[in-house]
This record gives sequence, structure tokens and C-alpha cells, in this order.
Amino acid sequence: NGIEGVTYNNVFYPPDEYTNIRSSILSHLGRNIYLQKDHPIAIVRSLIEKHFGSSFVPITALPPIVSPQQNFDELEFPLDHPGRRPSDSYYLNKDWMLRTHTSAHEVQVFRSGIPKWLLSADVYRRDEIDRSHYPVFHQMEGARVVEPSEMEDLRKENDELAQSLAAVNIQVEDVSTIGEKNPYQPWHNPDHAKLVNDNLKHSLNGMIYALFGGLATHKGKGPLQVRWIDAYFPWTSPSYEVEVLFDGKWLEILGCGVMQQAALTRSSVPKDNVGWAFGLGLERIAMVLFQVPDIRLFWSKDARFLEQFSDGTVTQFKPFSKYPSSSKDVSFWLGEREVHENDVYDIVREVAGGLVEEVKEVDRFTHPKTGKSSRAYRVTYRSMERTLTGEEVNTLHNDLGLKLIEAFNVQLR
Ligand code: PHE
Repeated sequence: NGIEGVTYNNVFYPPDEYTNIRSSILSHLGRNIYLQKDHPIAIVRSLIEKHFGSSFVPITALPPIVSPQQNFDELEFPLDHPGRRPSDSYYLNKDWMLRTHTSAHEVQVFRSGIPKWLLSADVYRRDEIDRSHYPVFHQMEGARVVEPSEMEDLRKENDELAQSLAAVNIQVEDVSTIGEKNPYQPWHNPDHAKLVNDNLKHSLNGMIYALFGGLATHKGKGPLQVRWIDAYFPWTSPSYEVEVLFDGKWLEILGCGVMQQAALTRSSVPKDNVGWAFGLGLERIAMVLFQVPDIRLFWSKDARFLEQFSDGTVTQFKPFSKYPSSSKDVSFWLGEREVHENDVYDIVREVAGGLVEEVKEVDRFTHPKTGKSSRAYRVTYRSMERTLTGEEVNTLHNDLGLKLIEAFNVQLR
């Protein structure tokens, strides 16, 4: 597809038919905004680290290039899982990719022998373009493994956690079904699995209360409402998603579960240990806590954004200005090859970078006689930092047309 090989940290990754990474994405590697002093993403990270306390080892320096084995196989992903597709993930070549989640490091970290840890990192996914999606975002993975000899202490810890939750204004609804579809693992000691499962629940409810319990929207409006629902992840069972009621809507905060023993065993953890893991999106939480309306702002170097935040405190973002947007359509006939919408979105990112707010597919049809397919997209350009001139937008949009022709051999209409 004409994309060149990549050199990163002095390693050359030769291109092959899997290569779909572009410079607009690569330019984010090493920005490390999740480690940047006074940055909202870093503030959320340290709030969570503080909540869990020093017994959870923070891990923050793992580079984003991983193997598909780490990202998928070690976590029991089936071979035909959609997440593996190059249309959904960024590949340097068939052997190397940008991690799509921090879970990619679970096996490796457990193998290093750390029993309780919190890992934060940048992750990469090919996705749509709008105010809450950016191809680079940040996750925090938390995990814990418990030995049989620690189970009685865990029982006490669970009682204490349950008591402190009972004393605060939180209402937890558990609509998960645990059973045939979302079972405990048959090889676990049932008592131990339940203790670890309860510990996961209490720990995460406590964390969620620590983050959201003080939100102005909940003050005087009754308890913070949290909901646990069934989920499926190949490397956990039972698995859950946890949601928080925010402004009348259920907001998905994290995925989690009891570690599949096959994955833990791969880390050389003894067979009678039981573990839990969770993964959450830091942007999603920061957008709610700081009231940040567009995910692109987290990448801004504008002092008017950055200077509003300071470590250890959660303050509401005051928009400095909303600059005008400009929407333009691009429509084209496809050539010989099928074009995934994520391929189009990547070209838009390549051309417009942080100046694109949203891309919507507005039309798609196949001509009944010629069999040719047509697509149309509406691209909304807007800078977070200034007013774009008409000329600038025209140049971007013309470039987009040219790049689409070059990349996919389409014919503009
Ligand atoms: N990695 C999962 C995601 O990105 C979240 C998760 C982490 C689920 C750990 C279970 C255990 O959605």
C-alpha cells in the first residue's frame, strides 16, 4: 500500500502487507502526556494511584510497540477475533503493532512477580472521528494476584472495604448474572474465586467513589449510581463492565474480571493463585471530571488549556473560546479495491491532524448498472486554538481529495 517502514528507538520495522501505520499516528509516540506535570490525563492517573496506595506498584514506562502475541494470543483471543484485523488496529508489519489496550502487558508484568500493580500507557485504535474519539488515548490497567495463604486476610479486607462503602453516598446495582454465560472458572477453588471477585468489586466501587463521589452534579442529587453488567473478555471470567450514571446517562467506565487461569499460568503464577484485572480509559474519565468537551484538547500545547489544571486537584475546564467550524463534503467512486471507513479516517488525520473535529459518512451506494460504488463523507474542520481561514480549510480539503486518490485510486465526484 505504499507505506514505508518505520524506525523507532533505533529499530527498523520493515513494511509488509499488514503495514498501515502513518506518520500522523507515529508523531504521538513518546509525547507521554499521561506523565506530564499538571496535565489532566496525568492528574486522573495519579488520583487513581493515590487511591490504591503504595502496595500497588505504578508502572509507566512501557513502549507502545508490542507483538500480536502480547496484544492478543497471550490473552486467549481467538484467531478470528475482530480486534486483530488491520482495519481496527495499527500494524508496523505482521509481527509488530501498536498496543490496542494496556492488557497487552498483563502476562509480562505478572511474570515479573509483582502481585499488585497499576500500569498506565498510551494505546492506539483505528476508529471513527468525533469529539470523543482520537486514535491515540490512554488506559490504566490494574491487577492483583492472591495466594491461597492470603485468602483469610482478603476476607477481612473485603469486610472492611464493604463497611467503608456502606458509609458513603453510593448506590451499586449489580445486574450481572454470573452463571452459564459468565461463569466462575471450574478449576478455581470456589471460595477463593468468590473472595477475589468480591475484592475486585469492592476495590473498583471504592475507586469510582473516590473519583466521582465529589462531582458537583451528584451533590444533593442522591447517591452516586454505579451499575455492574455482564461483559466478555477472552482473558477473564467472570467479566464485567462498570457504568456510572452521569447527567442521566450510563457512562461505561471500565472493563474487568477474574483472570483466566490459562493467562496467569502463562506468567508462571502458581495454579492455585487467583487474580483480577481491570482496564479503564483515562480520557473518558478526564472529560467527565474536568468537563473537557473535545478529546483533542488533551493534545493541545496551548497554555490557555494547560494552565487551567494543577496536580492533585480537579477543576472544571473553562472553554477559552469556541472557534467557528467549517464542514465540507468529499465524495468519490471507489476503484478496484474496497476501502474501509477507517482507511478514510486515517487519511483525514494524516491531512488535517488536530484540525478535524468530526467525519461522518453521509452517503454510500452502488450504481445498479455499472456496479461502481460511491461514498460521501462530511468533514468538519475546527481548530481548538484559533479561527481557521477559508483558504486554509480549502487547502486542507483539496489535499484530502488528492491523498484519497493517491491512496485508494478513487475518482472524486
Ligand atoms: N482491555 C480491556 C479494554 O480495553 C479492558 C479490560 C482490562 C477488561 C482487564 C478486563 C480485564 O476494553
